[in-house]
Amino acid sequence: MHNSSRRGFMGAAFGLVAGVGAVGSLVAMKKSWDPLPSVKAAGFTTLDMSIYPEGELITEKWRGKPIFVLKKSADMVSKETESQKARDIVVDGSHFMIAIGLCTHLGCIPAYKKDVEEFQCACHGGKFNAAGEVTQVPPPRGFDIPPFRIDGKLMVLGEEGPEYKQMKETGVTL
Ligand code: FES
Repeated sequence: MHNSSRRGFMGAAFGLVAGVGAVGSLVAMKKSWDPLPSVKAAGFTTLDMSIYPEGELITEKWRGKPIFVLKKSADMVSKETESQKARDIVVDGSHFMIAIGLCTHLGCIPAYKKDVEEFQCACHGGKFNAAGEVTQVPPPRGFDIPPFRIDGKLMVLGEEGPEYKQMKETGVTL
């Protein structure tokens, strides 16, 4: 009798532990399915453009792709050619290069060299300037610009605002 009640207790205790474990793993599984907070709402990513430092490349993520964000200094803006200006995205008076951070040759991720203000692709030697234009082949075109909509100091990636539509119409991006 003593033994059977002990077995009963052990069984209940094991059941409780197993139950807690199962709930714990379900919670962990659900967490791994949930998108990152910034990527919720059907693939849109909202960036606060007021937080980026000048001249530093920051890589964000949108729909699994790296997104380059480079806030240009006044000096960088003053040196821009007309075609480079056409690729600038201006948010609240600041100029940005925002682009999908994949080489348009075969998709490697180029590295930004701040001292020479250019992107260098280690795979086959392609180069891009700070505006995202090709300066050395084999990449067939400049960085692609993701769909975006400007909303005050915010940028919503994944939505096509008027500035993005104009870039597409004028052939600045595909
Ligand atoms: Fe960049 Fe080939 S993938 S140069």
